[in-house]
Amino acid sequence: MNNEKYLTFALGKGRLANKTMQLFEKAGIKCEEMKDKDTRKLIFVNEEYKMRFFLAKGPDVPTYVEYGAADIGVVGKDTILEEARNIYEVLDLGYGKCRMCVCGPKEAEERLKHHELIRVATKYPRIAKDYFYNTKHQTVEIIKLNGSIELAPIVGLSEVIVDIVETGSTLRENGLIVLEEVCPLSARMVVNQVSMKMEYERISKLIKDLKEVMD
Ligand code: PRP
Repeated sequence: MNNEKYLTFALGKGRLANKTMQLFEKAGIKCEEMKDKDTRKLIFVNEEYKMRFFLAKGPDVPTYVEYGAADIGVVGKDTILEEARNIYEVLDLGYGKCRMCVCGPKEAEERLKHHELIRVATKYPRIAKDYFYNTKHQTVEIIKLNGSIELAPIVGLSEVIVDIVETGSTLRENGLIVLEEVCPLSARMVVNQVSMKMEYERISKLIKDLKEVMD
């Protein structure tokens, strides 16, 4: 056991991380250190299981995993699609469920339908481009924003947006609606391609244990 290499986990910060630790606890993987809200530590160790955990900004999780700085990552499907890293997606964890959608004011519906050259604001330019160019075969102008995407059609920056819809309340409160659904999203486990081969047994067991507690 002592010669075992540490398995390193990169967890997307925020809501997903708490849910992930709850799920891991159910599967018997605990990391007490991580529960201390006041800590400034960046990395947390479970010596018994030879596991290390760190929190990172969502879009950085696939990067850590591709380079092998983390063996395993937990991050939203939106980020996986947008970052398009060379990693294995191995498990849908079933929480953080939401949808990637094209949204806008009701008036934008017709312009969208008639394939007019419209502007699309989004935090996810790769997903938006793939959807409009490869799925819909529609030419659009994509404008990258970093947050509060719903503002764009309200202030006239774009006709529509491509963004995450969870409860739909942000849209409702701003007079916008879902016009088209791009894809469903949820939290996923991703694995480094070399780690998957080198640590196949440990990682497969982990996936199996997680699946059992998820059911
Ligand atoms: C996300 C998303 C929407 C909102 C959707 O934004 O971009 O704005 O949540 O949730 P709802 O359907 O439950 O209202 P987030 O809060 O992550 O912040 P951001 O706008 O800065 O991206």
